[in-house]
Amino acid sequence: MPIFKKKKTAERILPEHIAIIMDGNGRWAKKRALPRTAGHAAGSKKFKEIARYCNKIGLKYLTVYAFSTENWKRPKDEVDNIMKIFKEYLEDTKNFKDENIKLQFIGERSVLDPEIQRLMKQSEEDSKNATGLHLNIAINYGGRDEIVHAVKDIIASGVKADDVTEQMISERLYTSGQPDPDFIIRPSGEYRLSNYLIWQSAYAEYWFSDILWPDFKTSDLEKAIDDFNKRNRRFGGV
Ligand code: FPP
Repeated sequence: MPIFKKKKTAERILPEHIAIIMDGNGRWAKKRALPRTAGHAAGSKKFKEIARYCNKIGLKYLTVYAFSTENWKRPKDEVDNIMKIFKEYLEDTKNFKDENIKLQFIGERSVLDPEIQRLMKQSEEDSKNATGLHLNIAINYGGRDEIVHAVKDIIASGVKADDVTEQMISERLYTSGQPDPDFIIRPSGEYRLSNYLIWQSAYAEYWFSDILWPDFKTSDLEKAIDDFNKRNRRFGGV
């Protein structure tokens, strides 16, 4: 019979919704004297590893920033390369099939290549009944653009100015029906939100790190979640 009972450690709380800005691909490549395209390929590989890990630990929602409405300003070659990587990911039948991950794409998709749009729709359709991780991939996404769309929709539906509520806006965002992200991770040493989920992240906790996205490990994610557990979330209360 054991004399001492093992002390029970407090249970770790997982955020409900983690949002990641996958930044630093270009600098990762530059450090290795590789083209930026190699950085995006490494970033895409990292994205798959982290998404799978989030599913494994039981995270409910993950949103990753793959391409912003501002990223069109990059050289055409680089934009084409990111779209090619994205298309290859969508075409690869091994990606997340049979892994119980529900895929959703957020952003203005109507301007994307029609074949990419078709593959996006197909992936959403194929995974619609998955009950594991809900994975949002933000592509041609911009937070301000998203809010403008919501406001236009409210006005078009004839709501009087005095009757506009926060809920009406939330319901018209791409993330409608999902819990707001409570934890936002940005690697690569930048301390900005870059138009990412700006409405939804009003009460999120932020975690920044110098690690470049392709170097980001599952142990870094664990470290971030441990830090999240140390935060005292008061939501404006005391
Ligand atoms: C930011 O790093 C990264 C991007 C703008 C592109 C991210 C895209 C991927 C990881 C591939 C997407 C694919 C899938 C399958 C979702 P940066 O280029 O701004 O890096 P830098 O700041 O070091 O230049």
